[in-house]
Amino acid sequence: MSLNPKKLEGKVAVVTGASRGIGRDIALLFASEGAKLVITARNEELLASLADEIKKAGHETPLCVALDVKDSEKVDEMVDKTLDKFGRVDILVNNAGITRDGLMLRMSDEDWDDVMDTNLKGAFICMRAVAKPMMRQRAGRIINMASVIGLIGNAGQANYAASKAGIIALTKSAAKELGSRNILINAIAPGFIDTEMTRALGDDIKNTILKSIPVGIFGKPIDVAKTALFLASDESNFITGQVITVDGGMVM
Ligand SMILES: NC(=O)c1ccc[n+]([C@@H]2O[C@H](COP(=O)([O-])OP(=O)(O)OC[C@H]3O[C@@H](n4cnc5c(N)ncnc54)[C@H](O)[C@@H]3O)[C@@H](O)[C@H]2O)c1
Repeated sequence: MSLNPKKLEGKVAVVTGASRGIGRDIALLFASEGAKLVITARNEELLASLADEIKKAGHETPLCVALDVKDSEKVDEMVDKTLDKFGRVDILVNNAGITRDGLMLRMSDEDWDDVMDTNLKGAFICMRAVAKPMMRQRAGRIINMASVIGLIGNAGQANYAASKAGIIALTKSAAKELGSRNILINAIAPGFIDTEMTRALGDDIKNTILKSIPVGIFGKPIDVAKTALFLASDESNFITGQVITVDGGMVM
């Protein structure tokens, strides 16, 4: 027996929104832990360059599928391609997400729908697509990316907060439905993580947020990726329907 066995050796993992930020670090960490990857996002070029990086690091070349998580036909096709290439699907990380911030009184229907459809419906579409093969396997892990904003709300983010609170309820409902088939479903609620999504915020807002974080620093994508690895691995065999905050103590 190896002294340091890889935590996801031979497991097949689908990661959505893998082209950058948190999803990218999850893909890189999972690959280094022996997973066979299916990486998806909308940008084909960024996916190809990530696949190249993973291959050059000596890991199995990922299957790249450019898609929009709102498109249920494309998501179903992606799962078919995954089964054709790897024969199974062990892990889904529902990470794709967007913000369209604005005060509620001025929020357009379009900004509401875009966020709900991408963050919440997209996650549902992907979960439904992998649930069948996971039920046949009688094994599976689903990790949904929520947010602390889904727990506490935020002025200017009514759409985003509602989508992330929805993700938490979806996680718990699906965990109850699929637990008897050994499909474990949990959510991660990151706090402020330094990615392109949060880099768009002004310095004033960032400084205010920083003051609310007890450890006094912003998180890094790898901090979230390590929690996803825990939830995807055998180290969390008896955990389902939970929300793990990764936020430096921002919400407690
Ligand atoms: N950065 C943070 O502070 C933070 C905090 C809490 C939660 N989150 C959540 O973590 C996840 C990743 O965030 P990030 O900061 O890495 O963001 P990001 O903007 O850097 O990356 C988002 C990824 O999602 C993909 N994506 C967006 N819409 C898509 C769609 N319709 N179809 C397919 N892919 C799509 C993008 O292509 C990209 O790969 C999101 O769900 C986000 O809400 C982030």
